[in-house]
Amino acid sequence: MQFFIDTANLSEIKEANDLGVLDGVTTNPSLMAKEGITGKENILAHYKAICKIVDDNVSAEVISTDFEGMMKEGKELAKIDDKIVVKVPMIRDGVKAIKAFSAEGIRTNCTLVFSSGQAILAAKAGASYVSPFIGRLDDISHDGLDLIEQMVQIYTNYAFETQILAASVRHTMHLIKCAEIGADVVTCPLNVITALLKHPLTDSGLEKFLADYKKGNS
Ligand code: E4P
Repeated sequence: MQFFIDTANLSEIKEANDLGVLDGVTTNPSLMAKEGITGKENILAHYKAICKIVDDNVSAEVISTDFEGMMKEGKELAKIDDKIVVKVPMIRDGVKAIKAFSAEGIRTNCTLVFSSGQAILAAKAGASYVSPFIGRLDDISHDGLDLIEQMVQIYTNYAFETQILAASVRHTMHLIKCAEIGADVVTCPLNVITALLKHPLTDSGLEKFLADYKKGNS
């Protein structure tokens, strides 16, 4: 299973990367705006900076919603670095663009996926990754994890090569359940990754070990 961090914050990306368990980064226009990154040149420079930190898999999202616009933007993004994965929304022209990018050897991440039908289309178009947003489904009282289960089943049935990138992951149980079900990748904020470290028995056990060592060595 791969871990991606879902942020455009450079220090959070560095912190996750320093932990040694990071496989990639996902961003979106809202996350870029949150960091105050605006204007084409600044946005491209920010992606470049992210690519300098991580080994691979930096999802950079297109803003256009028409085929020609997405192709132009996606090619510009892909030129930044080989690590870039062009993030394309699950809309009609998006599916066409994914197919065209795939034919040109440009990796894609099909984003804003909320149903298994959409996931089938993304895989048929040749997306490298497909991003089902499980937290946002939970927000409207649909179990996001059910979608991950359906997708794993369908992709297994047909040996689709598209990787399931569970997104909108809000807490550690989401992440652990995705691992149990068999999602290929999970993208989540830094606090979800670091929360995996925590267990009260680890803390109390370590405290006792150190206290006992001190007793015998003072
Ligand atoms: C995925 O690529 C998206 O950036 C992200 O996971 C959305 O998460 P949110 O629903 O918490 O905004």
